[in-house]
Amino acid sequence: MRLKDKVAVITGAGGGIGQAAAFLFAREGARVAVVDNNIEKGKGTVNKIAKEGGRAIFVKSDVSRTDEVKEIFKITRKEYGALHILYNNAAIFLPNLDGPITEITEETWEQILDVNLKGTFLCCKYGIPEIIRNGGGSVINTSSSAGIIGVPKCDAYTATKGAIISLTRSLAVEYAPEKVRVNCIVPCAVDTPMNVKSAKENPDFDEAKFLSTTPARRYGKPEEIAHVALFLASDEASYAIGGIFVVDGGVTIT
Ligand SMILES: NC(=O)c1ccc[n+]([C@@H]2O[C@H](COP(=O)([O-])OP(=O)(O)OC[C@H]3O[C@@H](n4cnc5c(N)ncnc54)[C@H](O)[C@@H]3O)[C@@H](O)[C@H]2O)c1
Repeated sequence: MRLKDKVAVITGAGGGIGQAAAFLFAREGARVAVVDNNIEKGKGTVNKIAKEGGRAIFVKSDVSRTDEVKEIFKITRKEYGALHILYNNAAIFLPNLDGPITEITEETWEQILDVNLKGTFLCCKYGIPEIIRNGGGSVINTSSSAGIIGVPKCDAYTATKGAIISLTRSLAVEYAPEKVRVNCIVPCAVDTPMNVKSAKENPDFDEAKFLSTTPARRYGKPEEIAHVALFLASDEASYAIGGIFVVDGGVTIT
């Protein structure tokens, strides 16, 4: 029980990596607030946790909306009376709309920045004070390989993921003295609905070639990211501050 007595908010926990983290955190004793803008998916995660005997609530929230983000922390405090872990995982990747900067509409740019970057900003803005109120804890942000290497044809997405790394470092310095550890996970090629969608909608993507040049020679599983998040959420990571944890099967070293 590595998260016994802890309360965790996980955004985008209706599917993919966030869902895997919600299952894992609950199994490790955390009470989890499952946040998603998709009601069916979010409730599905909560129901499965309940079936396993874990504790979770669903909070329907679009992380790009101030009023809805405020509600996440109000409801979590009312339900569990505390907050120790904030996992900012929700994001969108829109391969059909995102692209080279000369071709992206302002509307698409704003849509992607609103969810990925403003969503992280809002959750930190309203979540960190709750963590401080409880004597400290852990914030885990989510970047991408696209935040550390050049990836063409998704310029809005890459801008958000690079910014999240910088934001993580600033927040880590700002809030470490208040016992809030802020770190960032950098996934790539993880087998989730987002990854499947991006491969399907990109006619230039050659899966066989990609896998043959990926050191791991396979996609990652959502659980393989969730386990790193579990470490960062737990007290075992007590000296990890401002770390950028690349978990990508070796994609970015080749
Ligand atoms: N899968 C990968 O290979 C990969 C690679 C690099 C980075 N990432 C990052 O990891 C994180 C999780 O990715 P995933 O592959 O599990 O994605 P996913 O699309 O499979 O799941 C994302 C979840 O977030 C929810 N969501 C979307 N917009 C939201 C909003 N505005 N408010 C609240 N919830 C919202 C979705 O409903 C969904 O349940 C993302 O930040 C993503 O950018 C993933």
